[in-house]
Amino acid sequence: MPAVSQVVLALVREGAGLTTIAAYTTIAQDEVRHAELSHALAERLGGYDDDVPDGLDYAPRSLANPSDVSFVVWALANGCFSETVSLALIRARHAATTQPLVRAVLAETVKDEALHVRIAWQTAGEVLPNLARAERKELAGYGDELAEMLRRTFGTAGLPPKLRRREVTLRDDAATAGLGSVTAAHENALIDEALHDIKGRLAALGVK
Ligand SMILES: [Fe+2]
Repeated sequence: MPAVSQVVLALVREGAGLTTIAAYTTIAQDEVRHAELSHALAERLGGYDDDVPDGLDYAPRSLANPSDVSFVVWALANGCFSETVSLALIRARHAATTQPLVRAVLAETVKDEALHVRIAWQTAGEVLPNLARAERKELAGYGDELAEMLRRTFGTAGLPPKLRRREVTLRDDAATAGLGSVTAAHENALIDEALHDIKGRLAALGVK
């Protein structure tokens, strides 16, 4: 929610067209709904632990701090990278999930994420090729950093050993029970595959 809100604010700040602003506002609204659905699902299945384990880079409030980062940077991070990786994961999770409530939530989410990915790459296609060469090169370097971060936040690669074991077990147990995950190893492979795909798509837009 904060990340997409940052995209919306950057678009307004940089004088983007209303159609683009409306598209990203819709994405922001979808992310609120996904959070509501996830919360309701957790409550239905027995509640959840409020404490986020140490070592996980989960900081939505700090991500909501005022930012003067440009639209292209936010759009690259949230649109091209996060949405694309998220779609690959949620699609695989949906296919592997047998628990009906979890499956219904994933079905709803995957539909939205597919649209988010389309909006993100459409915008990227309009904006990225028009940037100066130096700026595109800089964005490519930033993209490599983002890829590393996503391996850690969406997947389990690069986490500290103890936390990693815990997260891997959590995913593997959920996968075995058909409760909304695929195995940790499978997730990491899917993330690598999506990141490879993103790198190729960005290179085709001159970000390399
Ligand atoms: Fe999304």
